[in-house]
Amino acid sequence: MKFYITTPIYYVNAVATVGTAYTSIACDTLARYRRLRGDDVLFTTGTDEHAVRVLRLAEEAGVDPKTYADRVAAQFVEDWRRLNISYDDFIRTTEPRQHRAVQRFFETIYQNGDLYLGSYEGWYCVPDETFLAETELINGRCPNPECGRPVEWVSEPAYFFRFSNYGDRLLAHIAANPDWLIPEFRKNEAVSFIRGGLRDVCVTRRSTWGIPLPPSIPDSEGLVIYVWADALVNYLTCAGYPDDAEEFAKFWPADLHVMAKDIFTRFHATMWPAMLMSAGLPLPKQMAAHGYWTVAGEKISKSRSVQPPRPEPVLERVMAETGCTQERAVDALRYYELREMTFGQDGDFSVEGVLRRYADDLANDLGNLLNRVLPMIARYRQGRLTQPCPPDPALHPAAQQAAADWERCADVLDFRGGLEAIWVFLAAANRYVDQQAPWALAKAGDNEALDRVLYSAAEAIRIAACLVAPVMPDTADEIERQLGLIGWERTWQQAWQWGLLPAGQAIGQARPLFPRTEPRKVATAATGKADKTGEGASKERAMVSFNEFKKIELRVGEVVSAEPVPGADKLLKLVVDIGGEQRTMVAGIALSYQPQELVGKQVVVVANLEPATIRGVRSEGMILAGWVKGDDKSISIVAPDRPLPKGSTVS
Ligand code: MSP
Repeated sequence: MKFYITTPIYYVNAVATVGTAYTSIACDTLARYRRLRGDDVLFTTGTDEHAVRVLRLAEEAGVDPKTYADRVAAQFVEDWRRLNISYDDFIRTTEPRQHRAVQRFFETIYQNGDLYLGSYEGWYCVPDETFLAETELINGRCPNPECGRPVEWVSEPAYFFRFSNYGDRLLAHIAANPDWLIPEFRKNEAVSFIRGGLRDVCVTRRSTWGIPLPPSIPDSEGLVIYVWADALVNYLTCAGYPDDAEEFAKFWPADLHVMAKDIFTRFHATMWPAMLMSAGLPLPKQMAAHGYWTVAGEKISKSRSVQPPRPEPVLERVMAETGCTQERAVDALRYYELREMTFGQDGDFSVEGVLRRYADDLANDLGNLLNRVLPMIARYRQGRLTQPCPPDPALHPAAQQAAADWERCADVLDFRGGLEAIWVFLAAANRYVDQQAPWALAKAGDNEALDRVLYSAAEAIRIAACLVAPVMPDTADEIERQLGLIGWERTWQQAWQWGLLPAGQAIGQARPLFPRTEPRKVATAATGKADKTGEGASKERAMVSFNEFKKIELRVGEVVSAEPVPGADKLLKLVVDIGGEQRTMVAGIALSYQPQELVGKQVVVVANLEPATIRGVRSEGMILAGWVKGDDKSISIVAPDRPLPKGSTVS
């Protein structure tokens, strides 16, 4: 089966953000999933370059618009490469093939009687590239809730598209194809928009920046095609229109256009299908609108002043805080975006959220499964699996359920639901290891049971790699490498099968999949937070070099004063003398220590920790303590065995 999926083509007035990345990651995940299923996938993306805004930005920058667009388009290519977006085609609307397609398309709809010359008198929103009637404005501004910017008056000769002719046909198509527009509430919005009455739309601008109207259309001199009418045609161009009839017959209509809510109702769900009807071309099979990412509740978009985060600094922060590779940080971001946002609803983006998902879901649930099982195969079986064993009833049904749930969720773009289903399976696999306790079987010398449990756990890991592959492709590769599956041809069917790891399979070298660096663990100690890892689970261990360790400045200090932090029952505010310098520090030790018993006590302090504000108190260091995992009342402060002068070095 063929599967043609598209992202919107992004404007080149801004570079990629975690917002645009979401659409690309969602489409990439579906494209990868379909490829695994054996479909012939065409996955396209690109840049929309003929915007008025680009012309103005280029003028401001003192370059011609094409040079400006070249730079930003190259940046998009680079960002998508980094995020592992496996598109098959990247189109730029300034390419000759788009020029040919748009002109051919306009000739066709002109011949079909749907273009007429008039003059446009009205408003134009430049950031949104939208023509607006006086009645549509809200307080004189763009009515799009994602925009709300001032609009400009336009008065010029223009060609119009007979959009008003298509209302009934659009409504009929929507009624006959209940899943054509998803989610349902967005479909309802489109229906109301059509029922409100479609007005003919202006499809040209008087400009030099854009694709000229074909010269065969009278009075076309000086008119270029309106940026939206140009951009939408990219979906045809990528499928081979108008030059490659064979390719076009194969891939058109598109199976799925994905975008956010901002460009759904007015453009994709109504104007685009009307244009296609006019040209006598089949309509895309489905269109899906997701919500918007906000940051701390603030909208982020092309037309807002709030600067959306770029993917790059997010990845850097994840790498810095966890010690992971760029590939793993990329997969953590991909995972976070798909797991955190309910498709169709808005979501709030935060790097802390990415780090939380990294620690809880990726390092704890997925990473630990590997880092418990593979070392046991190395230790107890010299790194080799024995005979495949029959499907284990404690694991195999859970794997099949996850595969079935993912398939059902992928069909409706419910990435969150699909990932939750995989994580239910991972929890079952971790429980299996806990309950079967291979270490106890090894001790008891029960070799048969030990072989069965280790093989089954390794199979669970192989299946998990297959299930997560569409979302975290590089992590799936690494898991398979660690299982020793070199040159393994992955298919989706393998997620349903059992016993594919061959007898005698030599596993590869186990490395922490999602490492966590030491400073993060120390930080956990100071805030008294319990680690989620259960008993019997070996922690992932990231090694630090001696030079890295030396960067941490540990000093002996003496507590000068201690008092509770108002409103926080676990926190104390301490003032600590670290040798001629007094520092305020917040420590999560209040359930284990009374303030008065601390005064005069010697402690060990991380003296060069970045300051942080905790509950409104600026904390300029951290004291070290040990504790019994999960028990905040067991905290015991680390102190020198014999008193040392304040400020003494600890190493
Ligand atoms: N060029 C037009 C699209 C033409 S398609 C024929 C355009 N470009 S855009 O650069 O503004 O991209 C809009 C799309 O980027 C949204 O529909 C959405 O897919 C994505 N997003 C941009 N910011 C986003 C968020 N903050 N959150 C989620 N998606 C976001 O409109």
